[in-house]
Parts: sequence; C-alpha cells; structure tokens
Amino acid sequence: MFKTSIQLFLVFPFICSVSRPTVKLIIDTDGVYDDIRGLTIALTNQNVEVIAITTVHGGVTANQSAANVARLLRAIGKHNVPVFIGAQDSLVPKGPIQVWEELFGSDGIGGVPDVEPKTLPSDFNSAQVGNAVDAIINLTKSTKDIILVGLGPLTNIAMAIRKDPDISKRVKQVVIMGGNYLGVGNTQFNSTAEFNFLMDPEAAHIVLSSLHTTMIPWDTCFLKGPEYNEEVDYEESLNQKTKLSYFLSNITARGRQYNKASGQIYAFVDDIAVSVAIDPRIAVRNMTLCSSVELKKEAVARGQVTVDWLTTKYDIVDRAFKTSSNKNDANWLSQTFVTEYNVKRVNEMLIRAVKLSDQSTSSKLQDNIIFIAV
Ligand SMILES: *[C@@H]1O[C@H](CO)[C@@H](O)[C@H](O)[C@H]1NC(C)=O
Ligand SMILES: *[C@@H]1O[C@H](CO)[C@@H](O)[C@H](O)[C@H]1NC(C)=O
Ligand SMILES: *[C@@H]1O[C@H](CO)[C@@H](O)[C@H](O)[C@H]1NC(C)=O
Ligand SMILES: *[C@@H]1O[C@H](CO)[C@@H](O)[C@H](O)[C@H]1NC(C)=O
Ligand SMILES: *[C@@H]1O[C@H](CO)[C@@H](O)[C@H](O)[C@H]1NC(C)=O
Repeated sequence: MFKTSIQLFLVFPFICSVSRPTVKLIIDTDGVYDDIRGLTIALTNQNVEVIAITTVHGGVTANQSAANVARLLRAIGKHNVPVFIGAQDSLVPKGPIQVWEELFGSDGIGGVPDVEPKTLPSDFNSAQVGNAVDAIINLTKSTKDIILVGLGPLTNIAMAIRKDPDISKRVKQVVIMGGNYLGVGNTQFNSTAEFNFLMDPEAAHIVLSSLHTTMIPWDTCFLKGPEYNEEVDYEESLNQKTKLSYFLSNITARGRQYNKASGQIYAFVDDIAVSVAIDPRIAVRNMTLCSSVELKKEAVARGQVTVDWLTTKYDIVDRAFKTSSNKNDANWLSQTFVTEYNVKRVNEMLIRAVKLSDQSTSSKLQDNIIFIAV
C-alpha cells in the first residue's frame, strides 16, 4: 500500500504531463483525402484533443465529408469525437458540387468503398444533431484555448464569426490551409485562386478581415512540394503495413496515380496545417503580410489573396518579410503565411500516426484510466 502510493506520487506529475492533451482542436473539413491524412495525425496524437470535427462543402458535399470522417473514426477506433455538419454551399450560392473524380474519386477519398473499413450506410447518419456553425460557437465558449483549423472552404468559420464576432477573442489561434500569396492557383487554367478560397471567396474575405490567422498557402504546398521530395518520401506513411497505413494508401491511390500521370507529385497539403497547429515549430519560415481577398465576379483573380507588399519590409533579425502594422490603410489585416515548413517532421508525424493506429485507442484508454484513478 505504502509502496503503491509512493509510486503514484512519483508517477502523477509525469502522467499529467504526458497523458493530458495540451492542444485542443476543432477541425473544419471538406473531407477529401488530404484532409483525412491531416485528421489522422490529430486523432492519433496523444498530445491532442480533437474537441469536434465540423464539415463543410468543398471537394465533396458537407454530408459526404461527414461520412468520410465517420469512416476514418471507425478506422482509428475512436467513436467519441463529435462530428457536426455545416454549410452545404458558399455564402453566395454556387450550386451543386462537381467532384473532381479523376483526382478524388466519387466520394473524395478514392472511391474505394469496399476497402477496410468498408463504407457503411450508417456513416451518413452518425453526425450530431445541430449545425457546425453553432457547434463552433458553443464549443469555443465551453472550452478555452481552442485552435480552429480550417481545411476546406471557410463558410462555417465565416458564419460563426458573423454570428458571434467574439469568437476571434475566444480561440487561441486559427490555422488555415487555403489561399495563396503569390497568386499560385490550383483550380482551372483561367483562375489565380486556390481551391478552398475560390469555393467561397466571400467567406475567406470575412475571415481574413476579422482576425489574424496562420495560413498554409497553396504556393507553399506547390512550390515546396517537389523540392522537399528530396528530403522525404511522401509515400513512406503509406507503406507501414498497418491497418491505417493501408487505408490511407487505398484512399490516395487514385490521386497519386492522377498526379503521376499529369507530371505532378503527391505531397502534403492539409496535413501541414494540422501539424503546424499541433507543433508551431514546424512553420520554419513565415511572411507576415497585410492581405485581403479579391471578390470581383467573373474576374480571373476572384478568390485570390491580394497582398499589400508596400507595408512589408525585410526584417534582418528574423530573416523574414514582415509588415510592421496589424493592418494597412485599406484595413487589410496582417496574416502569417507559412512559406517553408519542416517536411521531415510532418512526415514523421504521419508515419507515427499510422503506426500508432493499431494500438492507439487501447494505449490512450489506459492513460485515461490511470489519470482518472489518480
Ligand atoms: C445531410 O444529412 C442530414 C442528416 O445527417 C440530412 O438530414 C440531410 O437531408 C442531408 N442533406 C443533404 C443535402 O443530403
Ligand atoms: C448551442 O447552444 C445553443 C444555446 O445553448 C443551443 O440551443 C444549441 O442547441 C447548441 N448547438 C450546438 C450544435 O451545440
Ligand atoms: C488496400 O488495403 C489492403 C488491405 O486492406 C492492402 O492489401 C492493399 O495493398 C491496399 N492497396 C493499396 C493500393 O494500397
Ligand atoms: C511562424 O508562424 C507560426 C504561427 O504564427 C509561429 O508559431 C512560428 O513560430 C513562426 N515561425 C517562425 C520561424 O517565426
Ligand atoms: C474560365 O473558364 C471556364 C471554363 O471554360 C469558364 O466557365 C469561366 O467563365 C472562365 N472564367 C473566367 C474568369 O474567364
């Protein structure tokens, strides 16, 4: 008895620091395969508590996104993370979603419903009652220091800000995969916008003009992707022979094939945003720029992030371009654009996630039990 209490006494602070998640995330997602990779990192990381996953239209519908998330939760064996469905269309309605099937498959995750864990009809009924926008508002009231991660079009986040502007004070940080700062586009030949921003430019505009965010712009994904390919094998996490590794390999197979055929590489995207939210040191180089979003209808630049380079100077100490003010004369707020990231670290997080997956639930459960018992 004596011995046990000594042990508990010694072990207690250690358990606290190890098993109590310190990073609290709400992840808003359109549920396509790179979102799923990012979610995998968050859901398996012992240091992370995923407070909720909210879904939005984008690469697929908000409902399909929720179903994809439900399937992932089954793949990981985590059933206690609430999923809320949000906006089905952009603020200025753009109509039905055309899924980019050659890249994403019909469901956004490769179109392989028979791969384990197989798609179930119940995946479409497993979301919580209640809207994602209200969930974001409510949960950021009941839980402090949430980091909001936006992996899809920003409709839900913009609506939440509109409905409750205080949200910007309640959240610890907002990390977004989306937008660009050099006009590198990824939608169609005549657009200089990034996909998530083009899917709802008005929402992106509301978010960027309401709060300071950390952005993983498409330029960084696109321009650094091939360069970083010399440092990591992007497919290493797909070759780990665990259940989750096979799952990720299967749902990305079509996309990888499509990228190869079109001379592009399969690289990290949404997984960078999730990794940076968990460990900010992964953002090894940033630019802080006053910026906005082009909204003009029919414009080639609709949805592109516009940057005020005149207020930007090179900071010799930080070796980075920076604006010295929080906003410029046009009220464009400063945003942090991650321009270089630690690709090895993201790769490690992903590999660790798929390796842990086979036992993560049981080990996590064990930690919790010890914690509660103490
Ligand atoms: C989305 O799913 C919900 C149930 O989760 C359902 O009530 C709603 O009709 C679905 N919407 C569409 C557009 O399929
Ligand atoms: C948010 O809170 C309101 C007010 O308490 C409640 O009516 C609503 O059901 C909640 N919605 C969600 C999705 O949590
Ligand atoms: C798909 O997963 C199965 C195991 O469920 C595995 O045997 C197969 O190699 C995977 N296929 C791909 C393309 O990764
Ligand atoms: C880049 O920005 C992130 C998020 O604001 C920050 O945590 C990180 O320290 C920055 N990195 C550098 C090298 O300044
Ligand atoms: C870009 O091309 C598409 C497809 O041809 C067309 O529908 C759209 O109007 C064009 N947009 C602009 C801004 O020229």
